[in-house]
Amino acid sequence: MFGLEKGRLKPHKHRMSETASAASKKLHIKTYGCQMNVYDSERMADLLRPLGYAVSDQAEGADLVLLNTCHIREKAAEKVYSEIGRLKVMRQEKEARGEGRMTIAVAGCVAQAEGEEIMNRAPAVDLVVGPQAYHQLPELIARTTRAKGERLKADFAPEDKFDALSTERQASGPTAFLTVQEGCDKFCTFCVVPYTRGAEWSRPVASILEEARSLASKGVREITLLGQNVNAYNGREADGEESTLPRLMQALSEIEGLDRIRYTTSHPNDMTDELIRAHAENPAVMPYLHLPVQSGSDKILRAMNRKHGRQAYIDLIARLKAAVPNIALSGDFIVGFPGETEKDFEDTMDLIRTVGYASAFSFKYSKRPGTPAAAMPGQVDEAVADGRLQALQALINEQAQAFKASLVGQTIDVLFEKPGRYGQQAVGRSPWLHAVFAEDAAHLIGQIVPVKIVGVGNNSLIGELEKVHA
Ligand code: SAH
Ligand code: SF4
Ligand code: F3S
Repeated sequence: MFGLEKGRLKPHKHRMSETASAASKKLHIKTYGCQMNVYDSERMADLLRPLGYAVSDQAEGADLVLLNTCHIREKAAEKVYSEIGRLKVMRQEKEARGEGRMTIAVAGCVAQAEGEEIMNRAPAVDLVVGPQAYHQLPELIARTTRAKGERLKADFAPEDKFDALSTERQASGPTAFLTVQEGCDKFCTFCVVPYTRGAEWSRPVASILEEARSLASKGVREITLLGQNVNAYNGREADGEESTLPRLMQALSEIEGLDRIRYTTSHPNDMTDELIRAHAENPAVMPYLHLPVQSGSDKILRAMNRKHGRQAYIDLIARLKAAVPNIALSGDFIVGFPGETEKDFEDTMDLIRTVGYASAFSFKYSKRPGTPAAAMPGQVDEAVADGRLQALQALINEQAQAFKASLVGQTIDVLFEKPGRYGQQAVGRSPWLHAVFAEDAAHLIGQIVPVKIVGVGNNSLIGELEKVHA
């Protein structure tokens, strides 16, 4: 952990007037990790735009490179250092060309967890800024160009950040992320998030609605509400009352143009009846739910401190399916958690067969410094974990393919998002988050259109427009 400078820096909400006068500088942001980092990267770009920074998809020649990092697994965290090495070379080349200095900044969860170590291990880094402090980037960057070596880590004051951020958003297509909740109080024994993102905190309803209206006015039709435990959302209403996620989604669905709402990630214990009902009663709430369980073994769930058992999860899924027959499920799984035996793993495979997933993310357990599981006995052999991961992914893949195949012949609503690979092809999203490719659909980008599914790709569906839209 490194020196905390929590000086109250002025919010910078109204800088639009600076845009015209500022010289154009190139900003490259590389984002690792979860959707919340994707959201944060967009917001960092929003903050820096008024200072004359235009986003570039190339690091080469950039005046400012921001690495928005992830600490969740060792591999993700290690990537940062190799990336910094690459940037150092680019910086030298840029300077040799007489194009001025490249500023290198590290943001995100690695910055929060090991900022001091980054500054020591990678002297090329100009500044380090944690996920709750990035609203102070404009000031930091200004200072860095004068004197190198600023480090800033806000200790978990997300309200300060959201107060400083404008609710005005740029849209980069018909879908967008919107963070409504941050942090986690669950303390699963394997996980760093409670340490990198702090305690659970929910944004007030009014500011979320404002941001959503800004997005909708720019053509956004589908928003994904983000939170580490988004279904625990309890932000304040205008009258000071605590809201809930289903109530928030109701208000959002009344915004003109916002036709689809998703949310991620949820914890099974916060899956209320009211939220299940929202799936059945609010047509904007998509029939898709990412509900990580991590393991199907009661013993492992206990060791993970997931705070529920196998049967409770299976029962919850049954209630969901009864209320929302067309719901598709997705999950996260960890294999090779300390103490996981072949029997425990079989319990996980059995749970997957019982539940049936449309998709899932699965990971080999990664030992994270400072987490309780890192000190647990019975660390699982790498090769054994590899084998389990492969078997689990094969099963999930089979289920995902079967679900897609079941859609062939059906007509489903697709939100067209962007041009496809060639010609007038466009690619959109099914209600269940599949990519759907359709010919002669480029003119329909931004619209929700019925599409007949005629085939299945590896990670996608092939659709045909109904005659009336062609
Ligand atoms: N708040 C969310 C997401 C947390 S991180 C949730 O509760 O599901 C996303 C996923 O990364 C987790 O669900 C878990 O499957 C995985 N993960 C977290 N820590 C990990 C670790 N130490 N090793 C392997 N996978 C991990
Ligand atoms: Fe990590 Fe568990 Fe919190 Fe999810 S619920 S962020 S896995 S501690
Ligand atoms: Fe990674 Fe931080 Fe997200 S650790 S998964 S970027 S909350």
